[in-house]
Amino acid sequence: MSQRLVVIGSQWGDEGKGKITDYFACRADMVVRYQGGNNAGHSVMFNGKKYSLQSIPSGIFNPATINIMGNGMVINPESVVLELQKLKDQGISDYKLYISDRATMVMPWHSDLDGAYECIKGGKLIGTTKKGIGPAYSDKYNRIGLRMGDMLEPEYFAERLAAALEVKNKELEMLGLKPYDYKIVFDRYMELADILGSMIIDTSALINKELREEGKKILFEGAQGMMLCIDHGTYPYVTSSTPSAASVPVGAGIAPHWIDNVLGVAKAYCTRVGEGPFPTELHDEIAHEIRERGHEYGTVTGRPRRIGWFDAVIARYTSRLAGINSWSLMLFDVLSGLETVKICTHYELDGKVVDTPPSTISKFARCKPVYIELPGWKEDISGIRNYDDLPEAAKVYVKKIEEITQVPVGVISVGPDRTQTIIISDTLKNF
Ligand code: GDP
Ligand code: IMO
Ligand code: MG
Repeated sequence: MSQRLVVIGSQWGDEGKGKITDYFACRADMVVRYQGGNNAGHSVMFNGKKYSLQSIPSGIFNPATINIMGNGMVINPESVVLELQKLKDQGISDYKLYISDRATMVMPWHSDLDGAYECIKGGKLIGTTKKGIGPAYSDKYNRIGLRMGDMLEPEYFAERLAAALEVKNKELEMLGLKPYDYKIVFDRYMELADILGSMIIDTSALINKELREEGKKILFEGAQGMMLCIDHGTYPYVTSSTPSAASVPVGAGIAPHWIDNVLGVAKAYCTRVGEGPFPTELHDEIAHEIRERGHEYGTVTGRPRRIGWFDAVIARYTSRLAGINSWSLMLFDVLSGLETVKICTHYELDGKVVDTPPSTISKFARCKPVYIELPGWKEDISGIRNYDDLPEAAKVYVKKIEEITQVPVGVISVGPDRTQTIIISDTLKNF
């Protein structure tokens, strides 16, 4: 029987999913992205070099690992070509990569529309990555999307493109944006089909074959984070897909019973880019210190990330929603040197105790965090590789997170490099 591990973000994205996926990918036969697109920015570091991936899975650095961009993703083929070129320039050209024929394409007008919708929201910006993710998913569900496999059948693609442009050009003109010329788009996508065509296959069939093979190790790499989930996040300040492990079966084309091990990637504190409520957000010197020490600037947009204390209300909520079996506690090294560290155990809203996020952001924004405060630790922990060698105060912090969230910490990350990883869980040691 195969082993499966789902790596998901449990906060507002950028938790370190890329680093952890790459760590386990070194031993995995397959890495599958199942939702989102190039709004993601996943960093991987090894042998002193740092790489950044957007829509390509983080298993790409291992020549033996099969990398899959699943049907649940929205894929911008132009951006994939650029990403592959960038990897080539960095010396990465020996890989196995397949793209689902059923994945929806992000077309050039989707990013135009993403920008335009942001401008007309009357100051209520979502702060999207402007990659066209929302408009691409909208077209998918409106059944006027174009799919990767469509490009491989020129006559069919011509028909689908004409139908899509009839709608999209009207929409663009209504918003004062430039319409697209059918012929120019068609010709360019035929070129893209030539470049990417050999990678476009029925990926669900390939994943299912692998799942049934004895001893195969398969990783599912989530993008974004549970609090950006279109259903369970801080709506409308969310992305347009479901980063949860629950979205793996649909987004990869497998049956739900294959999913049993979910690793929730969580920073030892919290960050958020873009707008929306963030109860434990800090605006003081500590936020500045953490931002600089953790290099908390967006991988995709370069925006400074908002910083806050670890929020156990969110951790409990996301672990319940996504079936998280253990935490991968990230950027733990960044907390070294703080006099004290805080964990938010619950909120107060209008004088009442709240221990799960409310559904509306109007209530969420009024939630006041209630903290426990623990002693900090001075030691630099970035060179530590065994849990037992951590300072006592750091261990107390880990134990408190386990106690308050009722989920064990299976991995601790003490630096961006692949080697700066402490594996505690025996199940994960055996993956
Ligand atoms: P992702 O989107 O979840 O893959 O996360 P990002 O790559 O966008 O952001 C995480 C950032 O933290 C990257 O710059 C990583 O290199 C860095 N990082 C990951 N783990 C650690 C860690 O344990 N310590 C430190 N200092 N940096 C880390
Ligand atoms: P990774 O995979 C952090 C945020 C955007 C914005 C909102 C909607 O690197 O963790 P979108 O472009 O998706 O419509 O933007 O979601 N966002 C992310 N924040 N990490 C990400 O991905 C994100 N992907 C989207 O900043 O607030
Ligand atoms: Mg990121």
